[in-house]
Amino acid sequence: MSREIKLGLLGSGTVGSGVVQVLRENIQEITAKVGAKLSIKTVLVRDAGKKRPQLENLQVTENFQDILDDAEISIVVELMGGLHPAREYMLQAMEHGKSVVTANKDVVAQFGREMFEMAEKHGVDFLFEASVGGGIPIITPLKQCLTANRMTEVMGIVNGTTNYMLTRMSESGADYASVLKEAQEKGYAEANPSADVDGLDAARKAAILATLAFNTHIDLKDVYVEGITGITTEDIEYARELGYVVKLLAIGKDSQEKGVDVRVHPVFLPKSHPLASVNGVYNAIFVRGNAIGEAMFYGPGAGSLPTASSVVADIIEVARDILSDTFGRIHFNDTNQKKVCPIEETESSYYVRLLVDDKPGVLGAIATTFGNADVSLQSVIQTKQSIPGYAEIVAITHRVRHANILQAETKFKALPVVNEIRNIIRVENE
Ligand code: NAP
Ligand code: HSE
Repeated sequence: MSREIKLGLLGSGTVGSGVVQVLRENIQEITAKVGAKLSIKTVLVRDAGKKRPQLENLQVTENFQDILDDAEISIVVELMGGLHPAREYMLQAMEHGKSVVTANKDVVAQFGREMFEMAEKHGVDFLFEASVGGGIPIITPLKQCLTANRMTEVMGIVNGTTNYMLTRMSESGADYASVLKEAQEKGYAEANPSADVDGLDAARKAAILATLAFNTHIDLKDVYVEGITGITTEDIEYARELGYVVKLLAIGKDSQEKGVDVRVHPVFLPKSHPLASVNGVYNAIFVRGNAIGEAMFYGPGAGSLPTASSVVADIIEVARDILSDTFGRIHFNDTNQKKVCPIEETESSYYVRLLVDDKPGVLGAIATTFGNADVSLQSVIQTKQSIPGYAEIVAITHRVRHANILQAETKFKALPVVNEIRNIIRVENE
């Protein structure tokens, strides 16, 4: 008779009900693989009165203490979301000697260090595979399979909502407002889509990825963030003409000289880049290490069953540790602190789109202004506008420091022939 390992589930929404389903449908296989039966004993929800056919035969409670005080429960699976009380519940569970599995990127990005320390102190596991990339295995590969490398880059499409919106803008020529509405109707974007479109969701994931990849503590406030709210169909059309696609990327780079830079912003990505063909709600994470070279992890970045696949994999890892009477085998401790590169010191090529007066000498004045800011140009196109007397200038710069682009932007604001700086977007040319 195999041993039974009991779980307490905090939350039974999209991901929680997926976890119940996976454990129910695949229990025979999982038991055979683990050598123990995994069973959910109690489920915490906000409203225990709500009809939940998927939780039939399980104990449902509104009181976390019922799980905390239950000595039979050795693994707590946090799938409520949000910072509080999720953080406190996870800390308390570990203090009570229970291992924790979570999909909560908010808590891992902001309180990861506290969680790792608590797990170590109490001899339990703290695993969080589903916090980045939903169903895509990326946290365990970074902590385990790629550990032999000195990682220099981790770059990903880690937000399905914005990738869906940019894909739709590109495919259909629809504008930002209508693709946002479409994403909300399909249930991808929340009623308040701010965390997705302003880049905060991707920033949390970027902080987690860079922390693991570069073995350093990356604070969420060290992540530079720009969202997609300023991207227009015109930018997407120019990108296409120039051989690029527009993507919202989470980027982490570790250069020996400047330190680690972590940022989230839209980029012009060459059509030939492996991430350029990741479309719709799919996610992908591209990594570069000095032994592996380049590798890419691709798959569903969200959704009930794909995310549950990652959560249950973590549960299985914890169960194996319990059976071997160990913990923290693929442990991570982010006490290391590398230098963080300020955004002004980061380097990139840029796409700069300006609405200017259509008269002699304007192109020269623009080129001189770029030159005065020490920005060298790679190419320039000028297009006539429907409004008489105006033209649009689109410049692609060579690789420059962000500080120089900010300097050019300030000078353009003061230049009378420039009527509007329509957009400035980084171009990822490497
Ligand atoms: P969800 O559908 O909103 O479900 C949340 C569940 O938690 C509900 O069952 C809710 O109870 C319960 N809950 C919330 N606050 C609670 C509280 N204070 N006390 C007790 N129960 C509480 O959320 P979700 O989409 O499953 O997301 C869960 C976590 O997974 C989040 O951290 C999210 O970021 C992460 N994640 C989600 C996805 C995805 O595709 N959805 C992908 C990757 C990661 P009621 O049912 O009574 O309201
Ligand atoms: N809002 C997130 C997304 C859900 O759109 O990717 C998964 O973390």
